[in-house]
Amino acid sequence: MIDIEKIRKDFPILNEKVYGKSLVYLDNGATTQKPQQVIDAICECYAHYNSNIHRGVHFLSNKATDIHEKSRETIREFINADSSEELIFTAGTTESINLLAYSWGDFCVEEGDEILVSEMEHHSNLVPWQLLCERKGAKFKYIPFDDNGVLSSDFDSLINEKTKLVCVNHVSNALGTINPIKDIIEKAHAKGVKVLVDAAQSIQHIKVDVKDLDCDFLVFSGHKIYGPTGTGILYGKKDLLNAMSPWQSGGEMIETVSLDKTTFNVLPFKFEAGTPNYVGNIALGRAIEYVNEIGIDNIEKYEADLLKYAHEKLSSIPSLKIYGNAENKASLISFLIEGTHPYDIGTLLDRMGIAVRTGTHCAETVMQHFDIPGTIRASFAIYNTKKDIDDLYEGLLKITKMLGL
Ligand code: ALA
Repeated sequence: MIDIEKIRKDFPILNEKVYGKSLVYLDNGATTQKPQQVIDAICECYAHYNSNIHRGVHFLSNKATDIHEKSRETIREFINADSSEELIFTAGTTESINLLAYSWGDFCVEEGDEILVSEMEHHSNLVPWQLLCERKGAKFKYIPFDDNGVLSSDFDSLINEKTKLVCVNHVSNALGTINPIKDIIEKAHAKGVKVLVDAAQSIQHIKVDVKDLDCDFLVFSGHKIYGPTGTGILYGKKDLLNAMSPWQSGGEMIETVSLDKTTFNVLPFKFEAGTPNYVGNIALGRAIEYVNEIGIDNIEKYEADLLKYAHEKLSSIPSLKIYGNAENKASLISFLIEGTHPYDIGTLLDRMGIAVRTGTHCAETVMQHFDIPGTIRASFAIYNTKKDIDDLYEGLLKITKMLGL
């Protein structure tokens, strides 16, 4: 059972006023706010044990290293990976995917091969694969979705002996669809094809278990799960990561260096060149502990109820059209108000203290599918309440009335 008032007290920013009004923060798909526990973890590190990790013999360096690796272990447990060697700290989802596209992609993809990406991907899980295909002379293909925002179920007809990788998000950041990734992975594996799951919009809302999914790679950002910006994870099955060559090179990722030859460190350090964002990574571990304290199952249930309520409320506005009506949805509602531009509605809501995102949400192929310039997106987090949704609803009613819609 969730104590929402207690949770809200953990997030100092929720007390902020914007234009003299109480903040209603509904832009969690872009980034989540941080609980005091995460802010404290950052301060605690800088104030009491800041020191470069994996490098020193001294007390502070050992302490920072221990806490950093404990954080990796917390995250490993959270996604149920077999080993913390399978978790690479990155700067976020985008960096995780670029690492893969360069390291795994350059190593495993050849001219004539195919990469299959869904039509509802964020640019960060589309452009790196397009560029890889251009570099390699490989073919870029996509899995289409229907007007409800549901991926084509016979996508496996798009897989053939040339397909090397399927790239798909767990939850769409533009439509909220929860994709049937377990089914996708099963079908892809039956044909010997690897699967990358972009969990940037699911990790904070629903249980993600890499062993149960049997995904080959999974990526997410720390800042969308109450952690700091500039943090993220690339999970990969150990044998796949071991077979990949390093991407960025420099300190820490090496085993030995001479003027003739360099050999590389073991996993996960082989992919963590230079001084890592150890303060951020430690605070990400604290964010995951925070989620564990509430319970991801409780979060999932609470937010599903919130989403249902928001769907009912918003669909009762006659001039409002929702984009993304899949049966399985999480975390957000994308919509337009007939005859208006999303940017104008977003700006009017902002003046009421309501923060939403407007535009293409870095998912232009989704907007092209519907032939629209973008949407208004209200996206939820654990600290949102039905009152926030009522405020959004009332705000939209005021706007439509004002515009004579
Ligand atoms: N990927 C983030 C979003 O969907 C920025 O808003």
